[in-house]
This record gives sequence, C-alpha cells and structure tokens, in this order.
Amino acid sequence: MAVDVSADKASCERLVSVHRWTDKLMTFRTTRPAGYQFVAGQFARLGLEIEGEIVWRAYSVTSAENDSELEYYAIVVPEGLFTSKLDQLEPGAPVWVEKLSYGFMTPDRFVDGKHLWMLATGTGLGPFISILLQQDVWRKFEDLVLVHCVRHADEWSYSEQLAALQVQARAAGLTARLHLLQLLTREPAAPGKLQGRITDLLRNGSLEAATGLALDVDNARVMACGNPDMVTEVREILKERGMTPLRRNGGGQFVTEDYW
Ligand SMILES: Cc1cc2nc3c(=O)[nH]c(=O)nc-3n(C[C@H](O)[C@H](O)[C@H](O)COP(=O)(O)OP(=O)(O)OC[C@H]3O[C@@H](n4cnc5c(N)ncnc54)[C@H](O)[C@@H]3O)c2cc1C
Ligand SMILES: NC(=O)c1ccc[n+]([C@@H]2O[C@H](COP(=O)([O-])OP(=O)(O)OC[C@H]3O[C@@H](n4cnc5c(N)ncnc54)[C@H](OP(=O)(O)O)[C@@H]3O)[C@@H](O)[C@H]2O)c1
Repeated sequence: MAVDVSADKASCERLVSVHRWTDKLMTFRTTRPAGYQFVAGQFARLGLEIEGEIVWRAYSVTSAENDSELEYYAIVVPEGLFTSKLDQLEPGAPVWVEKLSYGFMTPDRFVDGKHLWMLATGTGLGPFISILLQQDVWRKFEDLVLVHCVRHADEWSYSEQLAALQVQARAAGLTARLHLLQLLTREPAAPGKLQGRITDLLRNGSLEAATGLALDVDNARVMACGNPDMVTEVREILKERGMTPLRRNGGGQFVTEDYW
C-alpha cells in the first residue's frame, strides 16, 4: 500500500549498511537527504513503513557533520514496534528521514568551561560519537570525558574507534585529552574498567578520581543522555553541586536528553 508522506517534511532514503555489535545492538547508515543539515549531538526523526503506515522514532546521529551518509546507533527493544522492523531490514530498504534535525544537546551552546563530561547509558553513547568526530570540541575544551555505562562488556560499542580518536587528534595538532571511562553494572569489571552506575560513581567520587578532574561549577560542563532515570538522578546530583541547566541565552552547566 502506498503511504502518504509530505515531500516537504521528509525524504525517502535508503539503508546503506548494518553493523551488528551484539544480537541487540546495531549501527546502521542511510543515504543523506539533499541539503540535510545537523549539528553534532542532534537527532533525526526516522520513519519506517509498518502495516501501511509510517512509524516515526527519534535517533541521534552518530556520524560527523560532513559525512556523505547518516549513521545511527540502535538497540532492538523486545517487542518494540519500530525496532522489530528495523532489525529485519536489508541494505537498500527505504528509510524516511525528516528534513529537520532536532535537539539542543550540542556542545557549541556552552559559553565557557574547560572540561566536557559526556555521560551515557547504553545507546545514549550515540550523540557523543558525532560530537567527538568534530574538531571544534577538541579545540573548545581542554579535557573531554566520555563515560559509557552498560550492563555487559560486549555492549561497549565503538571502543576501537574511540581509542583511535585521541591518536587522530594528536596527529591533527589538537591538544585536548580524551578520558574514556567504561562502566559495567551486571558483571565484574576487568582491570582498567569501572564497576557501577554513573550515578553511584558520581556520588562517591570515583569518576573524578579516575580522571583527576573535579566536577565543579567553574570548569565542568556536562551532557547526559540515555536512560531517563539516570538522567533525572544526574540532574539532581549536579544541582546539589550548584550547577544549573543550560539556558538559551547562555549560562548554565549541563544539558540532558532522555531516550524514552
Ligand atoms: C531524543 C531521542 C533520541 C533517541 N535516540 C536513540 C538512538 O540514538 N538510539 C536508540 O536506540 N534509540 C534512540 N531513541 C529511542 C527510540 O526513539 C525508540 O524509543 C526506540 O527505537 C524504541 O522504539 P520501538 O518502537 O522499537 O519500541 P517502543 O515500543 O517505543 O518501546 C519503548 C520502550 O523501549 C525501551 N527503550 C526505548 N529506547 C531504548 C534505548 N535506546 N535503549 C534502551 N531501552 C530503550 C524503553 O523501555 C521504552 O519504554 C531516542 C529517543 C529520543 C526521544
Ligand atoms: N525484559 C525486561 O524485563 C526488560 C527490563 C528492562 C529493560 N529491558 C530492555 O532491555 C534493553 C535495555 O537496554 P540497555 O541495557 O541498553 O538500557 P538500560 O536498561 O538503560 O541500561 C543501561 C545501563 O544504564 C544503567 N542504568 C539503568 N538505570 C539507571 C539509573 N537510574 N541510574 C543510573 N544508571 C542506570 C544500567 O545499570 P543496571 O544494570 O544497574 O540497571 C546499565 O548499566 C531495552 O531494550 C529494554 O527495553 C527489558
């Protein structure tokens, strides 16, 4: 059945490739709509035809702003309407992409700060991949702290790409340091990794100890993305430290994004 989508609103693109990290986690790429613009950290709205209707869901873009394709990092949710369909798609399949990009979790909005903390659970990692692929953020901050918390070690996707970023930055003459902190919650952590939730390790000072950086109002700017309960708790912890949400007219130390 033909579906009715306004050509002003969305563009019918193609699935280019799918990379499986685990049976539930995938990175997929689509062709990019002509003229599509986004800022690293923003999300796209993607549509799949399911039983004669287009079902729309939000997906953070993981690719660099100048990539000729768009990339996303996704989990297949048990019995999820959109992701059950996504899981079955082969390259060449149609994927609708809304022409507008969305979201305010972009590092260019911080007017000051020396250390950028990026806190992610699960697929909340996605926007930080795109952000770290932009040279601007390496110039804007002295230290970049990426914290990725997952249940099991095989869910630390993008590890090799992230490890390579520091080397690439040095080669490009960029001096910022990348601190990659990988956390596990449902199995013991190997040496060099951390055990426990982001919220617990923030409260007990383990994340600051691991980086040697204080999470304070003067220097730290924070982005948190993923599980909404984690996001809510992180906001409370930061407020207890005197931090306030990023404001439209500048000022503020943190910005967050809930995935559901
Ligand atoms: C701003 C924004 C950006 C998003 N970006 C991404 C992204 O980059 N990658 C991604 O995989 N999802 C992302 N999501 C979630 C995504 O839009 C859908 O919710 C997800 O694809 C599930 O859709 P579904 O129809 O299969 O399941 P639904 O029937 O919508 O099931 C929803 C349930 O699945 C669980 N769930 C949904 N998303 C996730 C997730 N990411 N991780 C763990 N559990 C989840 C929650 O329990 C939720 O209640 C984002 C959501 C928002 C609001
Ligand atoms: N079948 C089920 O009963 C069931 C239940 C839940 C989820 N699911 C599905 O399983 C998938 C889970 O995806 P996921 O593992 O990527 O996401 P997730 O459940 O959000 O877990 C990702 C990481 O976030 C941590 N976390 C969860 N809540 C937190 C909080 N309040 N504060 C701080 N950290 C928190 C988790 O720690 P912990 O390990 O300590 O939680 C885990 O390390 C989803 O598809 C979901 O729908 C299924």
